[in-house]
Amino acid sequence: MEYLIKQYPLETGALEIQYIEEFFGEFPRKKTAREIVDRLRDREFLILIAEARLPDDQGMIAPVAFKVVHELKRQEREPKLVELVAKLSDSVTFEDRKVLYSWIGGTRRDWRSQGHFRALTEESEAWAHACGFHEVVVKTKNRFYDMRGTLDQLEFDVIKYEIHPKDNRESKVYLSKRLTSDVVRAHTSTRTVVFAE
Ligand SMILES: CC(C)(COP(=O)(O)OP(=O)(O)OC[C@H]1O[C@@H](n2cnc3c(N)ncnc32)[C@H](O)[C@@H]1OP(=O)(O)O)[C@@H](O)C(=O)NCCC(=O)NCCS
Repeated sequence: MEYLIKQYPLETGALEIQYIEEFFGEFPRKKTAREIVDRLRDREFLILIAEARLPDDQGMIAPVAFKVVHELKRQEREPKLVELVAKLSDSVTFEDRKVLYSWIGGTRRDWRSQGHFRALTEESEAWAHACGFHEVVVKTKNRFYDMRGTLDQLEFDVIKYEIHPKDNRESKVYLSKRLTSDVVRAHTSTRTVVFAE
């Protein structure tokens, strides 16, 4: 299967992400386009959306999966990112290295287990490696079993575990992957990437 991926510029990408997140009923806190623009404006980022044909109307193409990654610097200003960098400081080296944060992503329920998220992840890794990033980090929770299983398959390593005092299902899991040329060579998905306006 050849995956069709669209790479978006900031403003239209943020609107597309806001739109596609409406299809994810399982997440109560969705990102707004404003929030996405504010975070990504002054840094390197990649907004990718996978598209696929609708099963009941092969003429129609719909957005089915997305992924947003961005540079994470040692000196951040946004409070959430300042906190993230502080938490990662004992497990990730920021000095003289480029660190990428895999911020948000997912696949719409009806299109899961068809390889869309692997294709988006591999495309983001190829981009990041070409841009000189050394490592990609991601955060999830114990209770996000689909995401944990997927990150396992995509060969992310656990680097930190932050236990929730009351509910262990809410405990946070931090994972990372070194972006070497071997990683990029090992990619398996066939992708066509087009640039959206
Ligand atoms: C996690 C998620 C993005 C996976 O998307 P997907 O498009 O179904 O993933 P893919 O089909 O590309 O699968 C990628 C790999 O992960 C594996 N995988 C997918 N879902 C899995 C699961 N539930 N358990 C274990 N492995 C899984 C696949 O087998 C595949 O491995 P392979 O390529 O080595 O065969 C999707 O289930 C999702 O959006 N879930 C909700 C998002 C979420 O939990 N967010 C929480 C915030 S972090």
